[in-house]
Amino acid sequence: MDFDDIVARLRAAGCVFAEDEARLLLGQAGDGLAGLVERRVAGEPLEYVLGWAEFAGRRFAVAPGVFVPRHRTEFLVRLAIGFARSRSVVLDLCCGSGALGATVAAETPGIELYAADIEPAAVACARRNIPGEVYEGDLYAPLPPSLRGRVDVLLSNVPYVPTEEVALMPPEARDHEPRVALDGGPDGLDVLRRVVAEAPAWLAPGGRVLFEAGERQAGAAADEVRRAGLAAAVEQSEELGATVVVGLREH
Ligand SMILES: C[S@@+](CC[C@H](N)C(=O)[O-])C[C@H]1O[C@@H](n2cnc3c(N)ncnc32)[C@H](O)[C@@H]1O
Repeated sequence: MDFDDIVARLRAAGCVFAEDEARLLLGQAGDGLAGLVERRVAGEPLEYVLGWAEFAGRRFAVAPGVFVPRHRTEFLVRLAIGFARSRSVVLDLCCGSGALGATVAAETPGIELYAADIEPAAVACARRNIPGEVYEGDLYAPLPPSLRGRVDVLLSNVPYVPTEEVALMPPEARDHEPRVALDGGPDGLDVLRRVVAEAPAWLAPGGRVLFEAGERQAGAAADEVRRAGLAAAVEQSEELGATVVVGLREH
């Protein structure tokens, strides 16, 4: 199977970036090339087939059953890096592959990094990517109580797609990524509400919680932040098409 054969097969399967993907698959596989191409042609996300995803200029391990970090989430990470200092305590909640926390750690040497996710596959993956502790369980439940009141930067890319809109997502997401990674309940804000409500107990004075939201959700999400007793700000990146809500514990 040569480059042109792979491009033709990928194109026939509807891959828009067939040539780029063919190059990556050729670079990845030895004898298993045909199997990898089959998987991609059958609709598996390219990142699962390769075993890695690129995020903010670095490669991170991903595996089937783990959310693939999205390019737009680099905005959330950029903001988190702006707030982190050497020796900051950083928590990546709902960490998935751990690419977000791992990027903050790579850009801010000296931080103390913790991460957690409810999905065993994500936790296993994050343990490969993250230079810090990774806990498994529901939101804050598995974290060590000693972390309470100490977190300077809490980044949490929660699932925020409204339940009815999950069916409208591209097949690669809705057929391959776990429902728990996508579905944010009727208005998409169910998990986010729980993260925000407990955030003040885990943040240090001056600490911040940051999460991505849909543009239409940002106002309601900022209200949740204020209801929890934090100051709220909404940040937007036109370049990345991303909206991030930041909550600050002032005292
Ligand atoms: C949208 S994905 C984001 C993953 C990662 N932060 C990223 O941006 O690549 C949401 C993640 O939240 C996790 N999750 C959903 N509900 C959770 C809960 N109650 N407690 C902990 N993690 C949860 C999912 O398993 C999934 O990995």
